Amino acid sequence: MAYTISLTKVMITLMFPIFIFLIHVPSMVLSQSFRSLQLPPKAVGPESIAFESGPVTGRFYVGIADGRILQFNGPRVGFLNFGFTSPNRSKQLCDGTTDPNMGPICGRPLGLAFHYPSNKLYACDAYFGLVVLGSAGKQATRVSDTADGQSYRFCNGLDVHQLTGNVLFTDTSSVNDLRNASRALNTNDITGRLLMYDPDTDRVRVLMKNLSGPAGVAVSQDGTYVLVSNFIGNNTIRYWLRGPRANTYDSIDFQERPDNIRRTVVGDFWRAAAMVKQPAQSLIPIAQRMDVIGRVSRTVNLEAWYGNTLISEVQEFGGELYVGSRFTSFVGVYRF
Ligand SMILES: *[C@@H]1O[C@H](CO)[C@@H](O)[C@H](O)[C@H]1NC(C)=O
Ligand SMILES: *[C@@H]1O[C@H](CO)[C@@H](O)[C@H](O)[C@H]1NC(C)=O
Ligand SMILES: *[C@@H]1O[C@H](CO)[C@@H](O)[C@H](O)[C@H]1NC(C)=O
Ligand SMILES: *[C@@H]1O[C@H](CO)[C@@H](O)[C@H](O)[C@H]1NC(C)=O
Repeated sequence: MAYTISLTKVMITLMFPIFIFLIHVPSMVLSQSFRSLQLPPKAVGPESIAFESGPVTGRFYVGIADGRILQFNGPRVGFLNFGFTSPNRSKQLCDGTTDPNMGPICGRPLGLAFHYPSNKLYACDAYFGLVVLGSAGKQATRVSDTADGQSYRFCNGLDVHQLTGNVLFTDTSSVNDLRNASRALNTNDITGRLLMYDPDTDRVRVLMKNLSGPAGVAVSQDGTYVLVSNFIGNNTIRYWLRGPRANTYDSIDFQERPDNIRRTVVGDFWRAAAMVKQPAQSLIPIAQRMDVIGRVSRTVNLEAWYGNTLISEVQEFGGELYVGSRFTSFVGVYRF
């Protein structure tokens, strides 16, 4: 009898840690595959992410809601001020603001990308249009705020073709600015444009117009086409820049709420988008890998870390996915 009791005791003491361990396995897995890089106090909305060239530093840049561009210097140093997009930005008025009506004063950098050969950082500012920063940062220089007589209203996604130096970018709407984004959604705005800036001629060409909320752009590795996501219209298109189909486009798919698209070093892409979850029809953020011709080859559901919060960008770096969002105070890093 005594033997049985002590054996049971032994079994309980042995099983207890195992039981605890089993319970904790899921959260251990979660914390291993996702971490967040916290922005400085009061900074929110890292919409887009631009890495410096080379895998050596892992240093990257994000634009935030108060108009600053921050530089990430590794987990120990964190984020430092790098530059700003507004020609007339007051630190006192702007730093830490999340008031959308300060946007036209403080600026709101959205799409960001480097032209590596010249080490220039281009940014699409929602209110000030296409701007560029040198390696010293600080005040950005305005490159363009109008094309074909139409001012940009909502400069948004941006990518640089590394060989030509051409900058491809979107103006989400000619009528609604960032503050009117929900109005643009509710009225199915179709006044967006796809634009291309040529640094050699200093000219901007309108490649496409009447787009339904164009958000992200990504130039293919060989520069023959660009992928463009229409956030409002729920479709992604491929516009041909060169070759027999130059200046025409075709449709890739009808994924809901497609946002920024980023090319990987091997030439495929990651797209931020949303999935409709039944029965409440809530939107769940997802990351989708797309092959070199734009077919979805993998979908990663980010609900466990973001809930219903939409993400705006997914970018692969060093075997991990860096996740941007207009609504978080961190950059997410997902190990896949
Ligand atoms: C600069 O911004 C301030 C408000 O911060 C405004 O009063 C002033 O008119 C602006 N100046 C220009 C040149 O835009
Ligand atoms: C956009 O929002 C701003 C600020 O809320 C407002 O002044 C403006 O009238 C809006 N524009 C449209 C077209 O609704
Ligand atoms: C297309 O856009 C132009 C302005 O760029 C506009 O005048 C025209 O009405 C639009 N067409 C349609 C079908 O919406
Ligand atoms: C795009 O998808 C969202 C989410 O399903 C939906 O609410 C919206 O009506 C769609 N828009 C269009 C233009 O189809």
